[in-house]
Amino acid sequence: MSKTTKAAPRVAIAIMAAGKGTRLQSKHPKVLHEVGGKPLLSHVIAAASEVVPPQHVYAIIGHEADRVREAVAATGVGFVLQHPQHGTGHALMAAREALLPYDHVIVLSGDAPLIRSATISKLLEFHLAHRPAMTMLTAELGNPTGYGRVIRKGKSKNEVRAVVEEKSATPAQKKVREINSGIYALAVKPFYAHLGELSTDNPHHEYYLTDMAEVLAKAKAGVVACKIDDPGEILGSNTRAEMVDLDARLRLAKCHQLMAMGVTIFYPQTCVIDPAVEIGPDTVVEPFVQLLGKTRVGSDCRIQSYTVIRDSEIADRTLILPGCMVESSQVKAGARLGPYSHLRPGSEIGENAHVGNFVETKKVRMGKGSKANHLTYLGDAEIGEGVNVGAGTITCNYDGAHKYQTVIEDGVFVGSHATLVAPLKLGRGSYVAAASCITEDVPPDALAVGRSRQIVKEGWVKKRRQAENKPSH
Ligand code: UD1
Ligand code: CA
Repeated sequence: MSKTTKAAPRVAIAIMAAGKGTRLQSKHPKVLHEVGGKPLLSHVIAAASEVVPPQHVYAIIGHEADRVREAVAATGVGFVLQHPQHGTGHALMAAREALLPYDHVIVLSGDAPLIRSATISKLLEFHLAHRPAMTMLTAELGNPTGYGRVIRKGKSKNEVRAVVEEKSATPAQKKVREINSGIYALAVKPFYAHLGELSTDNPHHEYYLTDMAEVLAKAKAGVVACKIDDPGEILGSNTRAEMVDLDARLRLAKCHQLMAMGVTIFYPQTCVIDPAVEIGPDTVVEPFVQLLGKTRVGSDCRIQSYTVIRDSEIADRTLILPGCMVESSQVKAGARLGPYSHLRPGSEIGENAHVGNFVETKKVRMGKGSKANHLTYLGDAEIGEGVNVGAGTITCNYDGAHKYQTVIEDGVFVGSHATLVAPLKLGRGSYVAAASCITEDVPPDALAVGRSRQIVKEGWVKKRRQAENKPSH
């Protein structure tokens, strides 16, 4: 080995995320708007952190800096404050101190969330091979409107003469379809040596990072373009419409990933499935389903339309009929929900259990094979195996100040329209008569009747009709 072997270059990644996002007409900072289930900036940080460790990733923040910092602090990236915000060139001025210790810096835009780590690595390789002061990632777009256009020195060359922003472009320049992605690799020394030469002589009176192309080209420091094949990756999101388009792309990609692993998703354009969601093979997801947060669905399940499931575990062979809402709950193998069941946090539905139409549960554990099929509220309840909860049953778990528990042991039969006033225990194998209001514990195998006895008054109607002098039928 030669003694002159050079040490690996020190590389940082800076993410420009200080802008307000005026075109969104929003009170929230642009980079915290979500696409594909997470904030724009989180996507970019994730890609950057696959290329260099997070302690070498710097988010340049400014507008609503505290909110942005808090939202992504857990990623371990560093922060640079740009205040006020005078443009993308000014963002790099603000980051000078943080970036000077490095040899090269890759600059990403916090509002271009589809960028892949492989592409960032390719840009870095290209940059290290060509050794210019600035390498810009470019792409050919069918419709380049709104993007900065790349003016090359000559057709066959990589070298760039300048970048012209949409607002300053001549009609001829507007026809150029090669656009600046807003993603760059910079050699730190020459870049910062010339950064002071930027001016604010443009329609926005800002320091444009893109003007560095011309500054560095004129100084013969080297500016090259690295064109990528898939322009979809560098799409930015300046408007709501662009954001919805990016969201659709990410959602569809997630569906395709799941389908490649054996899940059938009908009309995937209508389904919203968050990035962390896992689904087992041979499960079928029908149109207009949302699977959110850390949801896990097993194999051989069927999730029918208009169901929303968040942060829940759905085991194998579960059938979820249309219109269910499930939140922070567990559904065991072979269970059936819906149509229109509402599982609120802390519901645990046992194997082969059924929860049916307009049934609401909260903090409930329901054992194997138990059923609550119609119009019922079960809150703070421990329900054993093989229990039948009749239509219209209500657990009265709240007295206005405190919550109380209802325990229904194995094999209990609760008749329709029962009112179960907690705290309450229905012993194993007991029966509750329909329409009972139960306020006291029921021993095992007993029948509890909590309603007034029926009275039948023979001939009462006939007598009344006669009194009113109406003819009888
Ligand atoms: C920029 C480029 C344009 C390119 C496009 C690609 C400039 C002048 N233009 O335009 O050539 O085609 O990206 O998407 O750079 N930001 C800061 N501080 C600021 C201003 C902006 O951190 O003072 C951040 C924003 O939060 C955003 C990013 O920089 O994440 C890009 O800014 P934006 O205003 O969206 O630039 P574009 O008009 O899209
Ligand atoms: Ca942008």
